[in-house]
Amino acid sequence: MLELNKIYTTECCAGLKQLADKSVNCCVTSPPYYGLRDYGNPLQIGLEETPEAYIEKLVEVFREVRRVLTDDGTLWVNIGDSYAGSMKGAAGYPDNAMNYKQGTNRGSLGKATLVKQCTGCKPKDLIGIPWMLAFALRADGWYLRQDIIWSKPNPMPESVKDRCTRSHEYIFLLSKSKTYYYDFEVIKQEAVTSVKKRVGKVENVGYKHFNDTNVLSESDPMFRKNTTRDYTYTDKANKRSVWVVPTAACKEAHFAVFPEELIVDCIKAGCPEGGVVLDPFAGTGTTPVVARKFGRNYIAFEISPMSVGIANMRMDKELGMFK
Ligand SMILES: C[S@@+](CC[C@H](N)C(=O)[O-])C[C@H]1O[C@@H](n2cnc3c(N)ncnc32)[C@H](O)[C@@H]1O
Repeated sequence: MLELNKIYTTECCAGLKQLADKSVNCCVTSPPYYGLRDYGNPLQIGLEETPEAYIEKLVEVFREVRRVLTDDGTLWVNIGDSYAGSMKGAAGYPDNAMNYKQGTNRGSLGKATLVKQCTGCKPKDLIGIPWMLAFALRADGWYLRQDIIWSKPNPMPESVKDRCTRSHEYIFLLSKSKTYYYDFEVIKQEAVTSVKKRVGKVENVGYKHFNDTNVLSESDPMFRKNTTRDYTYTDKANKRSVWVVPTAACKEAHFAVFPEELIVDCIKAGCPEGGVVLDPFAGTGTTPVVARKFGRNYIAFEISPMSVGIANMRMDKELGMFK
């Protein structure tokens, strides 16, 4: 059994094999997107020849994740889409590579520019990677519970003139079983005004007070008596499925990472305090940092020693002795 609260420098499938069945409560992760970055390691995921091969690889990883999750465990996956491209020169770049969390450094695309061709897609077609993954995971036994939209108020600018600037990504919530741990109370959001009115103390003024000069008599069919009803007052509502969170940058990593705010609620809702959160693609360690900040343990894997170095520095800086 691996030690808790450590980021292991390893390929994730090898790392997951060392974890016992049902030993983690929740997995929060962002796999490398398809064809957008060359992380410079032959075992990396994301540069497969076809989207189908990429999805198959991710399904394998998440099958192991399902084994190590407790029966009431959940998986929260953030994943972006890719455009099919041609292989000719600059046109080989994906239509909007620059827009993605992982595609902010075009110079680092490397081999990624060669993997844009896709069965059934013409150059410029949106591939639909997130839903390909969601359906493949569902077919593999996961319960596909929700598509959460991460709406970015500060998306990367794009030079396209034949479609909108893309300003969202998906987070899929999947569960191992039909019923699962999900603390909806701790992630409730501010109610909007109309909800507050509906659940507050409401006075239903009869039509006879319609206005000062137009008082209805009780015999008028439009007449209604004044009534009042008591409701329990609340200013909190169940969290909605569109999450507006600005993107974050990590200057050491040269590419954008998970904004901490994006995954706070995944961890609070998906893992009890003192439980264990897993991230098989830890990158610069956002999941570990947030897990510790909110009193959860973590286990994380990351293939790149440089990213693990950045993550450990970040842990020291942000969490000090609580690392
Ligand atoms: C999108 S990044 C994760 C970013 C992370 N959420 C953060 O906030 O920094 C994906 C990471 O997966 C890593 N990776 C790619 N293939 C991997 C593999 N087979 N096993 C483990 N890590 C891998 C990459 O090195 C990269 O750091």
